[in-house]
Amino acid sequence: MNSTPTTNRQLQSLRDQINQHNIRYYVHDDPVVSDVEYDQLMRELQRLEETWPELVTPDSPTQRVGAQPASEFSQITHRIPLQSLANAMNEEELRQFHIQVKRFLDTENEIEYMAEPKLDGLAVELVYENGLFVHGSTRGDGTVGEDITQNLRTIKSIPLSIASPNAPSVLEIRGEVFMFHEDFRQLNEDRLMNGEPPFANPRNASAGSLRQLDPRITAQRPLRIYCYAPGIVEGVTITSQSSFLQMLPKWGFPVNPLIKTGSGIKFLLDYYQKMENKRNNLPYDIDGAVFKVNRFDLQQELGVRSRSPRWATAGKFKAQQVTTTILDIIPSVGRTGAVTPVAKLDPVNVGGVVVSNATLHNQDEISRKDVRIGDTVLIQRAGDVIPEVVKVILENRPEDTKPYQLPDTCPVCDHVVSRPEGEAVARCQNISCPAQIKGRITHFVSKGCMDIDGFGVKLVEQLVDEGVIHTIADIYTLTQSRLALLDRMGDRSASNIIAAIEKSKETTMARFIHSLGIRNVGEHTGKVLEKYFNGNLESLQNADAEELTGIFEIGHVMAQSIVDFFNDDENRNIIRRCQDSGVSFKLPERPAQQILSGKVFVFTGSLEKFTRKEAESWVEAQGGRASSSVSKNTDYLIAGPGAGSKLAKAESLGVIVLTESEFLQMIQE
Ligand code: IVH
Repeated sequence: MNSTPTTNRQLQSLRDQINQHNIRYYVHDDPVVSDVEYDQLMRELQRLEETWPELVTPDSPTQRVGAQPASEFSQITHRIPLQSLANAMNEEELRQFHIQVKRFLDTENEIEYMAEPKLDGLAVELVYENGLFVHGSTRGDGTVGEDITQNLRTIKSIPLSIASPNAPSVLEIRGEVFMFHEDFRQLNEDRLMNGEPPFANPRNASAGSLRQLDPRITAQRPLRIYCYAPGIVEGVTITSQSSFLQMLPKWGFPVNPLIKTGSGIKFLLDYYQKMENKRNNLPYDIDGAVFKVNRFDLQQELGVRSRSPRWATAGKFKAQQVTTTILDIIPSVGRTGAVTPVAKLDPVNVGGVVVSNATLHNQDEISRKDVRIGDTVLIQRAGDVIPEVVKVILENRPEDTKPYQLPDTCPVCDHVVSRPEGEAVARCQNISCPAQIKGRITHFVSKGCMDIDGFGVKLVEQLVDEGVIHTIADIYTLTQSRLALLDRMGDRSASNIIAAIEKSKETTMARFIHSLGIRNVGEHTGKVLEKYFNGNLESLQNADAEELTGIFEIGHVMAQSIVDFFNDDENRNIIRRCQDSGVSFKLPERPAQQILSGKVFVFTGSLEKFTRKEAESWVEAQGGRASSSVSKNTDYLIAGPGAGSKLAKAESLGVIVLTESEFLQMIQE
């Protein structure tokens, strides 16, 4: 088949549309299409490109993951070194910076600055020639970095070509690659589920992802970029940092929305303080604020020292790490019976928050760090995570301390605590342990779960200690008069709580599943299960591990936890009692007229016309379900070349088998 000018235009239009959607999403945080629509455009482009491979351009959005794994990274010498920044550790040092700038420029005029959050990620350089992304590198030692072009290409917020007709002929851009907390959390959750070790923090996760030799792995990591500095720029004249940062989004590059210009010392101090206050509420990690003299001619005049420019400084925030002493180590028992050692600390201020507890995770962690009662330790707090002990300051260890060992009986109920072979966590084996009961109920009533307003930890403790409730089902037997008998409980609060309990009865299956506190099953899995079982809890309770692992996103560990949970008669009984009390599920709204409603699809063999993910999201968007294993419930098996055992099984079960083309035809009808 010969390509025509029409095909060419069609391809160009698809590429432009997809690139524009990327910019809407990553640069302006304002998407105008759903994931499904976006995927459809991508698939359409892929199909056309497969028919006319000679029309594939290097900046096509299909070409983000192209290269084969490398055996090592080659080196790239930066044409202009990537300098680091001098630090200002407090307000006084920030004043000094400002005074030195004025003195050096020998001026009484107010100095205009650009203030930016200092992202805690990895600095990279992107090089564009004639509008195309040609290579990208790590900072390295500032002079020579590593060529990570193939990895950077996979980051969707990095444009593969500059989105503007009058792009500069040469454009070097520096920026920070990082991860949002939420994406980081999800990544670690997935890793744990797959038996891989979690990353310690978003920065490590970003660094580890950027340094993969196989770009296909990098492509699966939720990396982002914010750009903040020019290298060599030819073909346009830019005269200030603010005009540079204004140009970047027009060229398709994301810039941190929290940047600000202003003049004088008051502006610097103000921004520094505001950013520090904001720090713990941002969706990503920052460790300071960067201040840059705005005008490039003044930057030129100020010049550079050996390692850092005179025209910029990094205002660092107060350490999130401080030292304190361990007064005691208390084992605490959670809702799953997990016994977690908590260090009781001599209270200290860490970055503006008084901290008196830190988690020690488990016995292995305690032994590895050899943490003992009486030790002086370095603790750290990051974002909204629980403070943890980084290390012991051995020089300060008092005499006659001894290694700490978690007790082998439960500190709450005295039952035996045991630790299964190969697991890090020790658990109290008594499911009637008051600590577990309290934990399960507290989880059930909490905001993300059944969301029973006014039902806090204190109330749970009172009710369990007085023997009023033992299980979540007992919550629905509570009466206003019984609640009113409790200490510090007025009539009014009692009736408010009863009303909140009543209100919680109308819920969704997803919420209820999450609330049950099944091990390894969180909010997201709740939604996955709700969708798959279409709001029918009964079918979920009767599903076996094979069916469950067939569900996209459900792994073996999760499937087993779910099966174990529902195999327990006591659990089934509690659920039935909740339902008898009126707990019911409304189904989430679904678009009308879904052609694949209720149909179960399995894909096997090497798919050539679309990716598995695309096919699955398409099927789900049309009300169908995608599964990864063939069973009697399977409606269609889509078999690409090389299909093996699944094909045989489908044939033996009489499942309809389609080729990729037949599948495409079916969904297009
Ligand atoms: S400007 C000469 N701006 O901080 C100017 N750097 O210690 C060089 N960083 O390696 C960098 N956010 O990784 C600049 N808005 C920002 C930044 C930023 C984070 C990092 C960057 C650099 C380090 C400098």
